[in-house]
Amino acid sequence: MNKPLASPELLLVRQLLTNHQSQPGGLLPLLHAVQDALGFIPANAVPLIAEGMNLSRAEVHGVITYYHFFRSTPPGQHVVQVCRAEACRACGSEELWAHAQSVLGCGAHETSADGKFSLEPVYCLGLCASSPAVQIDDKMHARMTEAKLSAVVAKLGSVA
Ligand code: FES
Repeated sequence: MNKPLASPELLLVRQLLTNHQSQPGGLLPLLHAVQDALGFIPANAVPLIAEGMNLSRAEVHGVITYYHFFRSTPPGQHVVQVCRAEACRACGSEELWAHAQSVLGCGAHETSADGKFSLEPVYCLGLCASSPAVQIDDKMHARMTEAKLSAVVAKLGSVA
């Protein structure tokens, strides 16, 4: 269960609503904007979004759960995205994916027990020529190896 939205967060969702509610097909851009701003889409923002977009709560919830990109819980401190698309698969990304799960101690769309890392599969980061590719927070890593991934995770994990 999410904690209730604090007033500043609620105000922010209301502000974002005003930017998108008259836009045809505005729900997806609104959900992206909320997640960009808060890191996730709190369950208790759903009624507000539904009312503002003139949709049912079930419709909004359905969209959030349909797209794996949207989070209903806060992400870890760092988000590790491993490309699992074809070019990266051909260069060992499935082994890298298994290694990432082992090192982080969590699976797809999950967060490590210490809250430091969330793990996400992605399907092309635009670095196909330098596969396998990983993105950690805003930084892209080309030609990633298991050893390099372990080193980056250890470095980030040691920073409080
Ligand atoms: S397939 Fe992995 S970056 Fe394009």
